[in-house]
Amino acid sequence: MDFNTVPVDLGSRSYEVRIGSGLIDGAGALIAPLLARPKIAVITDETVAGLHLLRLGASFEAQGITLTALALPPGESTKGWQQFARCSEWLLEQKIERRDVVLAFGGGVVGDLVGFAAAVLRRGVRFVQMPTTLLAQVDSSVGGKTGINTGQGKNLIGAFHQPSLVLADIDVLGTMSRRDFLAGYGEVVKYGLLGDAGFFEWLEQRGPALAAGDHAARLHAVTRSVEMKAGIVARDETEEGERALLNLGHTFCHALEKATGYGDRLLHGEGVAIGCALAFELSQRLGLCAQEVPGRVRAHLKAMGLKTDLADIPGDLPDAAGLLSLMGQDKKVVDGRLRFILARGIGEAFVAEDVPPDLVQALLAEALAGR
Ligand code: GLY
Repeated sequence: MDFNTVPVDLGSRSYEVRIGSGLIDGAGALIAPLLARPKIAVITDETVAGLHLLRLGASFEAQGITLTALALPPGESTKGWQQFARCSEWLLEQKIERRDVVLAFGGGVVGDLVGFAAAVLRRGVRFVQMPTTLLAQVDSSVGGKTGINTGQGKNLIGAFHQPSLVLADIDVLGTMSRRDFLAGYGEVVKYGLLGDAGFFEWLEQRGPALAAGDHAARLHAVTRSVEMKAGIVARDETEEGERALLNLGHTFCHALEKATGYGDRLLHGEGVAIGCALAFELSQRLGLCAQEVPGRVRAHLKAMGLKTDLADIPGDLPDAAGLLSLMGQDKKVVDGRLRFILARGIGEAFVAEDVPPDLVQALLAEALAGR
């Protein structure tokens, strides 16, 4: 095992994120100190189970720990009431008690769903996140946001419930499809854009090597992203202020995801990339950042092969007014006003509460006309 450790400082709920190689094989030894008895319940999805569950099981077996596992169907539709009920009932059938630990082994869907089940099971049991996608490693596994989607929108039912440990094995990223990997990269770029211009510059140089599989580049990118997230979460756990910066690109993204049905037409990280490009465009139109900045953002996203424009989304989209009204349903709406994360430059994001809706609509109309 070879890993970096990033602490998340939250007083009595502090924990570590370990990022590196060999963590699936080392999971049993790393998680054993958290267990009150030699038993662990793992919830994963069928894809991850097929690829990695045997090795995970062997690592617990080597520590004399009994592992029981439930594999859910892969995909965003799993993150709803039905599979939430299934997980909760299954954990009760496994006789998971308050002193036990639940292990979420998968991408963002599994992490959010299982974290929420752990948050409410017997009024809260501890859980460990083992994120297996780039997006989950750099974002959703860290910070304790858990929840499910409903017909009304994404993540509208949920709880803050911090994990007790996060193990991000970057070796598993090699099994991801290029499209899924790049979608996760959208969230990596977001960290540079929101608060670290030096990291964005590094990504401009090293992004292609990282996407091609360079181990050191992947380790640095995941570690730097997690460091930034851990710092923000430690300062603002429940999103009273600074944590909202993590939603850079997300107001646009959530409207686009809703318009495209949360499916294969647009992956979340792809929506974040397009949303970041639009947020910088909006910032420039509001006179907040220099003329050339949105072009630099788009150039990097394009160079990486990420979706960047509304034209990159296949199929029909609502008109600008329709997209604006989908933004109005986002949970980042405060008192009916649209809240955007805007930027004064790369690495200089801030929360803006008073963006004129007609300006946003005009921007969307132009972006749609380019399709
Ligand atoms: N993904 C945004 C947050 O954790 O706050």
